[in-house]
Amino acid sequence: MRPAICRHRLLYSTVALVVVAFLSVIRMNSQSNDCECPVPQKSTKPELHQSADVEIEIARRFATLPLDLLSADDQTRLLQNLMPDSMKRWSCNQDHAESEKALRSHPAMHSNLDGQEYFNRFIRVVRIFGWKRLENKTFLELGYGIALMTALLRGMNTTVYATEIQPIPWVPSRHGPFFDVMYDLVEKASKEDLGPRFHLEKAAAYGRQCGRGLPDVKELTTTMERLDGVPVASVDVSYSLAVLEHISELEPSFMALARVHRPGSLSCHQVDLRDHSDFAQPWEFFLTSDKDFYAKTVGGSQGHPYFGNRFRMSQFMKAAASNGFETVHVVRQHEPANPEGLRYAKEALDTLDRLPADTHKYSKWPRSDFNECTSDKMPQTGLFICFRYAGGGPLTNTEEPTCGQDVWYRSDFSLKVAES
Ligand SMILES: C[S@@+](CC[C@H](N)C(=O)[O-])C[C@H]1O[C@@H](n2cnc3c(N)ncnc32)[C@H](O)[C@@H]1O
Ligand SMILES: *[C@@H]1O[C@H](CO)[C@@H](O)[C@H](O)[C@H]1NC(C)=O
Ligand SMILES: *[C@@H]1O[C@H](CO)[C@@H](O)[C@H](O)[C@H]1NC(C)=O
Repeated sequence: MRPAICRHRLLYSTVALVVVAFLSVIRMNSQSNDCECPVPQKSTKPELHQSADVEIEIARRFATLPLDLLSADDQTRLLQNLMPDSMKRWSCNQDHAESEKALRSHPAMHSNLDGQEYFNRFIRVVRIFGWKRLENKTFLELGYGIALMTALLRGMNTTVYATEIQPIPWVPSRHGPFFDVMYDLVEKASKEDLGPRFHLEKAAAYGRQCGRGLPDVKELTTTMERLDGVPVASVDVSYSLAVLEHISELEPSFMALARVHRPGSLSCHQVDLRDHSDFAQPWEFFLTSDKDFYAKTVGGSQGHPYFGNRFRMSQFMKAAASNGFETVHVVRQHEPANPEGLRYAKEALDTLDRLPADTHKYSKWPRSDFNECTSDKMPQTGLFICFRYAGGGPLTNTEEPTCGQDVWYRSDFSLKVAES
């Protein structure tokens, strides 16, 4: 067996080569951009900032290396050697030895942290709810995943509660450059979308302090079924992205949500209704027997419906209503009509029809939850849904979303609110 020191040397020389290649590509790109410019332009950014951009790019590219090429420790050590100042700033002088490992094993870690993507998600939240519903209010994000983008709502003086079943501690080499990019984008947006009332420094503090020590951002390790630590009747707005399709139980989840919401408050969710195993075959999980499905989800390696819980729109609405939430807005999402999609719908539903209902609960299920109510009869693959908390126990006779219409609002509800 080779001594460890030699293995490390080999590893480092390989990695050094990769790094040199990375750096030259980055430098080449920035040079070629310069050359393409017809009139040489002087950058408005100070020199220091440009090198920070390069360091962010290095960190970003590192994060895209195949996970097993470098151990978590080696990656951190190498970045520390390459860019000691940035890594110091990104780690807030704390030891983060375990956090990269936690990130790698997180169920939502299917892509890298992309500042632009999360910034877009943040702006989407601001657009959905609007300033008036957010400013000075209390916001709850359910299942925020690998990075808490809604911490930026601090810029609107919003108190943020955020839950995650498997939280990742701050990872300097990932969250550091990520929040730097987010900060740049928010700074730009504060001159446009967000406006001058947005408190930039307050929003930036979360990243600058490595996600710690802010009394108005409360990260809680809990499930939607429990919502431990969220005060009773405190929430003005709640939101989730790709979470409702992963919860294990409906009733307890909406019961917990009702406990923490204020009467009259709003709760919106983006839900992916597809079988996550193969998005081209979004209904395959209905063809599995209930017993096998249960074994694969609760009994599976993740211990919860990692590939989707199969719950349909009517089930979410029913659980919501029985806990005091009325459905006020619905978007039925689907692919644009195409022959393959329509054929898949027909074949899958024909197969489902033939399965015994006592072993396959979705066999005789209302077709309105599958494709009958989308505008073009394509399979409904996603759902954006908003509930208003009425505050007084179970609701009956709530207004039903119109079938055949993709975008529906309750007659007395609009997402748009007059800006103050
Ligand atoms: C597909 S990820 C989405 C993460 C994040 N919202 C995003 O968009 O990147 C699903 C998330 O749901 C969370 N989750 C799964 N079951 C949950 C439950 N019962 N209650 C709350 N969150 C849950 C997981 O921890 C995971 O982070
Ligand atoms: C938020 O609070 C500030 C300061 O008290 C106030 O000027 C502003 O109008 C409030 N915004 C809303 C939407 O209540
Ligand atoms: C922030 O919001 C709180 C209410 O949640 C309010 O009392 C306070 O005045 C607000 N501060 C600013 C600076 O808007």
